[in-house]
Amino acid sequence: MSGSSRRDRDLRERAREVIPGGMYGHMSTALLPPEYPQFFSRAAGARIWDADGNPYIDYMCAFGPCLFGYGHAPVEEAVRGQLALGDIMTGPSEIMVDLAEAFVSMISHAQWAMFCKNGTDATTMALVVARAATGRSVILCARGSYHGSAPWCTPRPAGVLPSDRAGVTYFEYGDAESLEAAFRAHAGDVAGVFATPFRHETFADQSLPSREYALAARRLCDEYGALLIVDDVRAGFRLARDCSWSALGVQPDLSAWGKCIANGHPISALLGSNSARAGAERVFVTGSFWFSAAPMAAALAALREIRESSYLEDLIEAGEGLRKGLGALCAAHDFGVRQTGPAQMPQVIFEDDPDFRLGYAFAAECVKRGVYVHPYHNMFLSSAHKPEDVALTLEAMDWALSGVRARRSDLQPHPGVAARLGLR
Ligand SMILES: Cc1ncc(COP(=O)(O)O)c(C=O)c1O
Repeated sequence: MSGSSRRDRDLRERAREVIPGGMYGHMSTALLPPEYPQFFSRAAGARIWDADGNPYIDYMCAFGPCLFGYGHAPVEEAVRGQLALGDIMTGPSEIMVDLAEAFVSMISHAQWAMFCKNGTDATTMALVVARAATGRSVILCARGSYHGSAPWCTPRPAGVLPSDRAGVTYFEYGDAESLEAAFRAHAGDVAGVFATPFRHETFADQSLPSREYALAARRLCDEYGALLIVDDVRAGFRLARDCSWSALGVQPDLSAWGKCIANGHPISALLGSNSARAGAERVFVTGSFWFSAAPMAAALAALREIRESSYLEDLIEAGEGLRKGLGALCAAHDFGVRQTGPAQMPQVIFEDDPDFRLGYAFAAECVKRGVYVHPYHNMFLSSAHKPEDVALTLEAMDWALSGVRARRSDLQPHPGVAARLGLR
């Protein structure tokens, strides 16, 4: 860590007693380098501070939610204004209608909107709406694509029954023939196809789908009478100001949104076209906090900023600056590196590093030098990442690469990673 880590260590010890495994999900220590801080005390702009007060330029943005940086003033002001009026009430505030109208006016395929809390709520609602709209049962998902942590889609099998997955069938990402074969195998019973805007699996290079593939997915859904669902929870508003596949000329019937739509406030959304409206009207979906007005105010303010600011161009510029600079540094330090995916959601994987020992050592060195990167998950930039932050980051990465080079022959694989990748 870049400084003291005593408080973090104490918190980990206490957590081990009262939180299963000490932590769960992406923040589980099982797969992170041991040098990584586990607990954070505050965040502002492009920075986070760990529990011991050490600052980091943060390239995870809370795993996506912070699009304009932490504590972005126009969004926070809108939240404060709504909190003063009321947040959780017996029913929704009128702001819910304003927000649905804002989404419908911005997202080309959307003719209605429903709101929930997490991305998993939105993708699960998409699944039930697709089934209700078509009267069919089968849902096609690309193998390896993440759609959340509910039993129908969680990548880990513990606690999940085969019956929880009944009706979910897999095809190969980006492969129209494989998708067509899945349709044929379930002819007449496919309710919907989940499309991930670009391939963004962990521990793997990322890739953008071809326009031909996206068009084929739309055509097959139309031919077989199924709904096309774009899961924009992760990529939404970092690729486009519209649904991500609009850039490929494809409009889905449903799209699931979450993470950054309220710049870090808890709200997600399912958007649909009229092809899915009757299904959406029939399902029973709700949650105690789904009508919470303050996150809706945050989302409304965020959508205004998305429409009116240059945040997207700024994100791309920062991402490209980082990518170019890191590429040059790696070449200078004699490391091969693959930087894949959109520059604003980069994945960095070292060449000749099958067990990720180089990637983990690099990430740990970066964290020691005050730059929080991720060793196996795609990263996220925000429009708060200014050119001066990128310059500081590259300075730290130069140091980090020197450190890795010096230790190269002594590096060992992280035990959790070797097991996860099936390397032993
Ligand atoms: C593509 C995608 N879909 C769905 C989800 C689930 O979102 P949440 O973690 O908010 O439930 C995620 C989360 O990372 C995601 O990346």
